[in-house]
Amino acid sequence: METHKLVNLEYTNIEVMLPSIDFFLEKIKNDEIFHFYKVNHGMIDSIYSAYKGKYNELETDLLEKNYEKISKNIQIAFKDAEWGLSYWHSDSNVEDYLINFIRVLVEVSNIHPKIKTGISLGVGLHTFWGVWEQHNEMQVGRTDVIKKIMNVNKSKFYYAGLFKHYTIKGEIFKLFNLLNELNFEVVFLGPDYLRLYKDVFNINKFHHINIPVRGAANNFGDYIKQLKGIENNTNNKTIVLHSAGQMLSAVLVDELKDTNIWGLDIGRSLDILIKDKVESEPTMYKCWTILDENGLNNYVDELRSSAKIEKMKNYKFTQDWFRVNQFENWLSGFEPNKILEIGSFEGKSTVWFIETYITNDTKSITCIDPWLNYNHSETSLHTYSDISDDRKYDNNIIKDRFLSNIELTGRSSQVNVLHGLSHIELPKLSVNGDRFDLILIDGNHTASFVLTDAIYSWWLLNEGGIMIFDDYGWVHEKNNNQSVPKFAIDSFIECFRGYLDVIHIGEYAIIKKKKF
Ligand SMILES: C[S@@+](CC[C@H](N)C(=O)[O-])C[C@H]1O[C@@H](n2cnc3c(N)ncnc32)[C@H](O)[C@@H]1O
Repeated sequence: METHKLVNLEYTNIEVMLPSIDFFLEKIKNDEIFHFYKVNHGMIDSIYSAYKGKYNELETDLLEKNYEKISKNIQIAFKDAEWGLSYWHSDSNVEDYLINFIRVLVEVSNIHPKIKTGISLGVGLHTFWGVWEQHNEMQVGRTDVIKKIMNVNKSKFYYAGLFKHYTIKGEIFKLFNLLNELNFEVVFLGPDYLRLYKDVFNINKFHHINIPVRGAANNFGDYIKQLKGIENNTNNKTIVLHSAGQMLSAVLVDELKDTNIWGLDIGRSLDILIKDKVESEPTMYKCWTILDENGLNNYVDELRSSAKIEKMKNYKFTQDWFRVNQFENWLSGFEPNKILEIGSFEGKSTVWFIETYITNDTKSITCIDPWLNYNHSETSLHTYSDISDDRKYDNNIIKDRFLSNIELTGRSSQVNVLHGLSHIELPKLSVNGDRFDLILIDGNHTASFVLTDAIYSWWLLNEGGIMIFDDYGWVHEKNNNQSVPKFAIDSFIECFRGYLDVIHIGEYAIIKKKKF
């Protein structure tokens, strides 16, 4: 079972991951693209300044994805400031970048597998640099802000100081040796002094996109173009190591998320290696390069030895059809006891339901799936019934994956697995007198099947219960209404109008049963 080291974020009980450099090296060797970026106190303080004492408002704005408002509030808070955003970007219009920064932090980094987000309530060096003492108003405020963000973004964060630690320990050289070995184009994007790293690490395929320390937002699009140009002109893999400030780093993360470019937000993580150049390089800052090296070394040792080991539940999913980041908002306050799921596949949604709702021994989930060869392109009315009986129960690979994922939740005894087609299994549940509080309809997506599932499910749903339809927003390329769920869901809602409330319409459609 995969394990992870966890440490608490500065003065809090918020756990973040503390992997060794080998974790990243293995990913590079295995061709698993990542983009590690970090959010330190700088940007957290910006949000803190804008929402000081108004954290409920912040929570609402985050939940409602009102990033524009958050961005405006930050700008107002910094209008007359001579630090933070106003210092770095005094002559630039940062509105869109700021909106993007917040969106990436609370939303995109939650769902995009490439993105690894580091956070720190300082700069990842604890009291050495960047952290106030425990009860300092600002330190407490930072904690409140990050808690609100983590309320929305449920993914596990990394400790932002990781790459500083690898540098302090000299382990960072392993990274550049590997990149040379694998012929990577290594692009540094950041201030002038980053050019020095070519020699520090003996980098073979070195590039430097030089950006100004202040006002880089003005031409950021051009820098990204240059970077993409480098990648376009080579058959080698490309990694960008950037030091562009937290707001622009997030912009880069977003811009690169669907490309083959690897990313690492180095910020000033490597600077201690060239500390003798601090005075002669006008674009370099003293910051932590003037700190006592022994002290830093001991700090990293202590941090590492304080880490706890967490056994990760090593779920295996090949598809990411079920995107959960908003469910808890839409279903906020809802506590289902019995859940029904039509279409479980490998159990991604099942696992989420179990981890979120099956929190004691009295709760249960029922899963219906025929576990056939899944084929989206098939659009005939009877997509799944057309398949001959002997093949129907043949494809056990996906079902096995489902079962082993369920096993890992530790709640498999509360999962009722019905291996079959929904139009056969649902009436049986009705005859049994079963009732459910929450039903997910995510089986055969052909409209006729969705309508069948909706109607059978209606009679199984308790009053006050909720029904979720997946892929309401899915538009068929050939405008064939019959082949997508929307047609069925709209018809169902029309037929039962007066008996239900529509809670949400978007990628998912969610309804609540008012009465029978
Ligand atoms: C989109 S996948 C479900 C994804 C799953 N909820 C998740 O989170 O990953 C659709 C599933 O519906 C199943 N399915 C297809 N036809 C079905 C039917 N008539 N009754 C029940 N399930 C069906 C398929 O076998 C497939 O596993």
